[in-house]
Amino acid sequence: MPKYAFFKGQFVPIEEAKVSIMTHAFNYGTGCFEGIRAYWNEEEEQLFVFRMGEHYERLHRSCRILMISLPYSVDELGEITVELLRKEGYREDTYIRPLAYKATEGIGVRLHGLEDAFALFALPFGKYIEKEESRACVSSWRRIDDTAIPARAKVTGAYINSALIKTEAVLNGFDEAIVLNQDGHVSEGSGENVFIVRNGKLITPPITANILVGLTRATVMQIAREELGIETVERPIDRTELYVAEEAFYTGTAAEITPIVEIDHRPVGTGKMGPIAKKLMDLYSKIVRGKVEKYRHWCTPVYPK
Ligand SMILES: Cc1ncc(COP(=O)(O)O)c(C=O)c1O
Repeated sequence: MPKYAFFKGQFVPIEEAKVSIMTHAFNYGTGCFEGIRAYWNEEEEQLFVFRMGEHYERLHRSCRILMISLPYSVDELGEITVELLRKEGYREDTYIRPLAYKATEGIGVRLHGLEDAFALFALPFGKYIEKEESRACVSSWRRIDDTAIPARAKVTGAYINSALIKTEAVLNGFDEAIVLNQDGHVSEGSGENVFIVRNGKLITPPITANILVGLTRATVMQIAREELGIETVERPIDRTELYVAEEAFYTGTAAEITPIVEIDHRPVGTGKMGPIAKKLMDLYSKIVRGKVEKYRHWCTPVYPK
C-alpha cells in the first residue's frame, strides 16, 4: 500500500486522499489519467521513471479534450512525481497513477463551469500480464469511436469499454482480447496497443484507428527501426490478417511487450513467442532500467546520487 498521495495541492497520508460520493468524476467518469512505470535498477540502486515527460504531455492533451485545466506544467508534474516517489522510498518496480478530474460536488452532466482537481499516487507493481505468452480472442465488443468518446484521451469513463472487453475475454477462457473498430478493422487490446509481423515487417493500426496513442508503441517503433532495422507500417489491419501473421504482440506501459501466441484458437506463427518480439522484449527491459546509454534520456532518476 502507498503511504502518501498528492491531493488538493499537497502531499497527504493516503488515508486522507478521499473524494465525496457527490464528486462529478465519480458520477460521470469525467476524468483522465495516466499510467507510468518506474523501474528499479539494482546495480545502480536507482529508480528510473520511464518517459515521464511524454506521459505528462499526453495527460495535458487529454485534459485539453476534456476541458480540464491542469495547474501544473509537464516539468512541475515531473517534480511532484519524483518527490512522491522519494517520500515513498520505493526500491522496486512501481506504477504511478496521476488523475485529473472534475471535482465539483453536485449533479449536472457537462464539462464546462466545473472545478478541476489533480491527484497522484504510486504503488509497487510487478507484471501486469502474468503469463509470458498471451492467448487472445477478437472481442464481440467494438472500440469506442472518436465520434462518441475520444480514445486518444485517456478518459476514466471510457475504461468501461476496456473493462467489458477484458472481462468477456477472461470469462471465456482467454487472457486478453483484441477489439475491432466500428468499421471492423483491428484497433487494440483492452489496455494495450497491438502489433503484428508480416513478411518480416511490423504493422500496427494508425492513430486514427481509435487507439490510445501509446508511448510503448512509439518506443517499440523507434527501437525496432534504430536497433533492429525493422520499419513499422501504420495501416488498417483486417481481422483475418491476425490469423496469418508471423508474430503478434501487445505493447503498453503495464503490459510492456507481451507476445500473443494464439488468436481465436489459431496459433500465431509457430504458436510460440516469435524472434522479433523476443528481441524487442530483451531490448525494452534493458532500456527501461536505464541500461542503454543511447536511451538513458527516457529514464528520470528518482534518488539523488
Ligand atoms: C486502451 C489502451 N491502449 C493502449 C495503451 C498503451 O499505452 P502506453 O504504451 O502509453 O501505456 C493503454 C495503456 O495506457 C491503454 O489503456
